[in-house]
Amino acid sequence: MSSEPRRVENQLTDKGYVPVYTTAVVDQPWDSYSTQDHATWATLFRRQRDILKGRACDEFIDNQERFGMSAEQIPRFEELNEVLAKTTGWELIGVEGLLPELTFFDHLANRRFPVTWWIRRPDQIDYIAEPDMFHDLFGHVPLLLNPVFADYMQAYGRGGVKAHGVSAEALVNLTRLYWYTVEFGLIRQRGELRIYGSGIVSSKGESIHSLESTSPNRIGFDLKRIMRTRYRIDTYQKTYFVIDSFEQLMDATRPDFVPIYAELARLDSFPAGTVLDSDRVFQRGSGEGWATDADA
Ligand code: PHE
Ligand code: FE
Repeated sequence: MSSEPRRVENQLTDKGYVPVYTTAVVDQPWDSYSTQDHATWATLFRRQRDILKGRACDEFIDNQERFGMSAEQIPRFEELNEVLAKTTGWELIGVEGLLPELTFFDHLANRRFPVTWWIRRPDQIDYIAEPDMFHDLFGHVPLLLNPVFADYMQAYGRGGVKAHGVSAEALVNLTRLYWYTVEFGLIRQRGELRIYGSGIVSSKGESIHSLESTSPNRIGFDLKRIMRTRYRIDTYQKTYFVIDSFEQLMDATRPDFVPIYAELARLDSFPAGTVLDSDRVFQRGSGEGWATDADA
């Protein structure tokens, strides 16, 4: 399946800006990237690699190097796919942007990772609300080379297909897990906190905030607790959850979630900034600068 690449703008509706979902798989239009597109990639790549020294987990940097990603030019999906084919068997597919949930889950369940083909404009260097190629490629793709994380992503996709058939609440529970692990997860290595979440590694501000700020909570990974926790989509997170290893993530998420969804359906959600007595607290956040409007 392939179609002409087309930049999809978000549409203003009575619910605010919502992404237009298109399911088309597109070939990466590599020759159409402008000098400015390559320069944007280079600026972001250099800046993040510099900030992430000593902040990102070992696997993130090592695997980015194994892929041969560099500031020199926007990577070709084809070349990254050659590396993946020889290792964890994942495949990158080009997409316009966010996909309908079930389509997204189905891709992951089949070890296909959707990557947005376009890169942000220069005025969006520091912040862009929707995922672009920098977030997807720089942020998500490196850990697909890690065998345990690669399996976790596939298991998540299968779990998503399953949750889709359970209830809307089950999907909310599962989405929170993705948010607090794949997008905003921290990991402990050699006694120190490091970043593995893609939403953090692709953001200059949050790379520093997530590890160094006294404002957010940093709490040990706890599956059901995370599935009950609301999150922020428009500010830095109020809480980060810390895993000890990717194996821990894999083991904790192996059980059938269907009974867990049923149990959680009777329980309230927690606001994003809550600390519970049962939490393993690495840092209790000061809450400084926290938004007071509702969490997602
Ligand atoms: N074990 C989960 C289920 O039965 C699937 C899953 C695995 C979800 C890994 C998330 C991550 O639904
Ligand atoms: Fe993402």
